[in-house]
Amino acid sequence: MKIVVNTEEKISQMIAEDFIAVVNAKPNAVLGLATGTSPLQVYADLAKANKEGRVSFKGVTTFNLDEYVGLEGTHNQSYRYFMNENLFNHIDIDKANTNVLLGVGDYVTFMNQYDAKIAAAGGIDIQILGIGSDGHIAFNEPGTPFDSLTHETQLTEQTIKDNSRLFNDISEVPTRAVTMGLKSIMNARKIVLIATGKNKAKAVYGLIKGPKTEDMPCSILQDHPDVTVYVDEDAYSLCK
Ligand code: GLP
Repeated sequence: MKIVVNTEEKISQMIAEDFIAVVNAKPNAVLGLATGTSPLQVYADLAKANKEGRVSFKGVTTFNLDEYVGLEGTHNQSYRYFMNENLFNHIDIDKANTNVLLGVGDYVTFMNQYDAKIAAAGGIDIQILGIGSDGHIAFNEPGTPFDSLTHETQLTEQTIKDNSRLFNDISEVPTRAVTMGLKSIMNARKIVLIATGKNKAKAVYGLIKGPKTEDMPCSILQDHPDVTVYVDEDAYSLCK
């Protein structure tokens, strides 16, 4: 596990460059994408690089980590909406090649086919991850089996509370989600994780120093051969 400590601006730039390098080396690369506030600057940097002609996403396929159950893709807190607004609408990608789990309709069938779909596309070349304050990655909450594939899950009170800041009221936060599993994430060839702020310090400690345990889902990444953890000083503070 490689660890990079720098400002949020710098680590976002570095992650964007990691993605650009992968896509420029392999124009039909498969990208694993995440939502949340953490990757926002990375996506802005990628859109800028695309406009400047430094990278093209025309041949790229993407798979997102997760989605809330019960939200239509047009809902402004759905992860499909988030991805369109913060990345896909600003780059030259073919939206038909962007995959986000469904939260409504026959979402279970779609969910059950997701890992096979990723494999059929050639597997994920580079995956970006954020991290929850309880150590979750995607929506793999504490206690999720390390060998899990894409599945439906119940969100913890902590996650509902954390994510309520983006909704009008905590009662509007969905309580269930569909998410790639920990094994699905571990299948990616390269993983970059971004964490900033004191609120993430405990989870980052569990990720880097803690024992490998299903109580701290991110700790499974200790076993991945190509992970870079990008953190700011606050997120890294307990590891010093
Ligand atoms: C959500 C997402 C995760 C994300 C986490 C942290 O629960 N499912 O993928 O990593 O929030 O979000 P943020 O980056 O906004 O702190």
